[in-house]
Amino acid sequence: MSDYWRNKFEGRTEGGHRYRSEQWFKKSVQEHLFHIGEQANRQNVLVDIGCGAAELTVYYAPFFKKIYGFDFSSSMLQAAQKRVDSFNIDNIELIQGDACDFAEKIKTADIIISTQVVQFLSYEQLGRHLDESLKILNPKGSIFIFWIIDPKTEWLWDIGYLSDNKIGLPQLILRLLFRQKQIISRKLQRKPGTTELGYSHAKEKIKAICSSKNLEVEFSNALYLEYRYNASIKRKA
Ligand SMILES: C[S@@+](CC[C@H](N)C(=O)[O-])C[C@H]1O[C@@H](n2cnc3c(N)ncnc32)[C@H](O)[C@@H]1O
Repeated sequence: MSDYWRNKFEGRTEGGHRYRSEQWFKKSVQEHLFHIGEQANRQNVLVDIGCGAAELTVYYAPFFKKIYGFDFSSSMLQAAQKRVDSFNIDNIELIQGDACDFAEKIKTADIIISTQVVQFLSYEQLGRHLDESLKILNPKGSIFIFWIIDPKTEWLWDIGYLSDNKIGLPQLILRLLFRQKQIISRKLQRKPGTTELGYSHAKEKIKAICSSKNLEVEFSNALYLEYRYNASIKRKA
């Protein structure tokens, strides 16, 4: 079952952003840097888990001493290396690794981020990702999980209710029924996640997982994505 997402991303060379423009990538990183705040500085090491093709990673480079980009997909990492080279960046190192098993490959991190990645982790795997992160995270370091899919709004997005176009009630009902059919057939086929976008994660469950690991978490809405939110996580004082 866990190979499902690995297979999905093997051969892919882009992260599947809503817009594929450099402006969008830059804006997204600016949103994330806002949350990282003063911890984005040239003394700190950033780890980008599930960095994909480094579409965003390259824009963090000027703000950190060193960046490690991890991804389990070799095709994504090849695309990432090409992009890093084309930007002439020398402080990004790309490493093949799993979000639940990467700590042995680096010594310490000040900031650990992931963007559109935990949607490919179950709650149990998310817990393991946090355990792994804590092995290398500096005592005052932070974990930022960006763009988590919110189960409260994901379905509204999926049926088109949150789109800019007006959609009538009958069409919304039809789309809702179609979605339910898709979800059931996905379950019968034993595919992970709610849809091909992956799992959605409830804030209260993430809070409970963090609390069980003596971590505190703060949530914020994603700036540009209506059905997603961010989690800023650090050790309890
Ligand atoms: C939707 S893409 C996002 C890429 C990048 N973070 C971005 O925003 O441009 C998800 C990435 O996470 C990677 N990924 C998914 N699950 C992973 C896991 N368990 N371990 C490592 N990488 C993973 C995929 O290979 C893919 O490159």
